[in-house]
Amino acid sequence: MNVRTAEEITSVIRTALQAATWAPSVHNTQPWSFGVDGDEIALRADSDRKLRIGDAAGREMLISCGAALMNVRLALRALGYEPQVRVLPDPDRPALLATIRPGAAVPADESARLLYAEIERRRTHRAGFTELPVPERLVETLVAEAEGEGARLTPVRSEAAIRVLAAITCAAQDVQSQDRALSLELIRWARPPGSARADGVPAEGYPRTPRRTRPHFAQRDYTHGHPWGNESDQFFSVSTGVVAVLTTKGDSREDWITAGQALQRVLLRACAHGLSAAFHTQALEMFHLREFLRQELCSQEYPQMIMRLGVTFDEGKGVRRPVTDMLEER
Ligand SMILES: Cc1cc2nc3c(=O)[nH]c(=O)nc-3n(C[C@H](O)[C@H](O)[C@H](O)COP(=O)(O)O)c2cc1C
Repeated sequence: MNVRTAEEITSVIRTALQAATWAPSVHNTQPWSFGVDGDEIALRADSDRKLRIGDAAGREMLISCGAALMNVRLALRALGYEPQVRVLPDPDRPALLATIRPGAAVPADESARLLYAEIERRRTHRAGFTELPVPERLVETLVAEAEGEGARLTPVRSEAAIRVLAAITCAAQDVQSQDRALSLELIRWARPPGSARADGVPAEGYPRTPRRTRPHFAQRDYTHGHPWGNESDQFFSVSTGVVAVLTTKGDSREDWITAGQALQRVLLRACAHGLSAAFHTQALEMFHLREFLRQELCSQEYPQMIMRLGVTFDEGKGVRRPVTDMLEER
């Protein structure tokens, strides 16, 4: 029999929740909360943190929460427990995205430990990459990681398709930057230099004067005209890296959570091999552009994330709220 003390359970849950907080999330909104009942964790979407204009359906919110779920799973697995997960367990409580509990004790999983060790170190990159090549076998490994979670990661190989994706990203960025309501929403999640807040995109998380990659993939404008940003990307790094699209067969809330779990596995595996990812999801927030991509570039599957993967040397520090801010009564 698998006997656990109350202290053991508390320590396991604390470690798992701490891991969850380090998930990537759209604009670092961290749109989740947790409840704990005995040895069960409830993961909930925190719709107060949803982007009401950019993400009205909550797709990106659920992808973010899916990534947090993956971190909980990896933490439990790394600690030697088989995670018991129920996704969307209660149709009457749609905000309850998953319940997770540490199941049977299992031998420590080396692969999970490796990925778990990257959770806090992984950072989003927002510039070009060095010219160092991304090994083909590593790309295949990332594809397999996504597939293992029920999603598909497709590296975009054709130069023409990459140019189309870049152009669509730039067009979406242009349209969004002229939309006042969207711009105000984005500004709300831009974290100024020296800010004490524990969410939002930190000004240290992007270069002040980014050099353009060829083709150019527009970045989000978190500065809104302020001279913010770090100085790290001045002299090198103009490679686009490997462009890839993460897709799912369906487009339900469950698919979005699946996409988030797959995304996080891909990112952590990439990080373990020295790769970083940059995201360009502007076009996926616009119905017609997303639909165009689905039909023309994604074999009718639903695009959930557009990313570039490559080698970079900057290692920023992340910003997160403490777990205590995310705990709710069950
Ligand atoms: C669904 C989703 C969409 C995102 N879209 C973008 C994006 O378009 N541009 C960008 O620079 N980062 C994007 N990000 C990355 C977040 O900004 C990043 O995860 C967050 O700021 C936390 O920083 P970290 O990943 O370095 O820990 C996205 C993340 C998620 C989960």
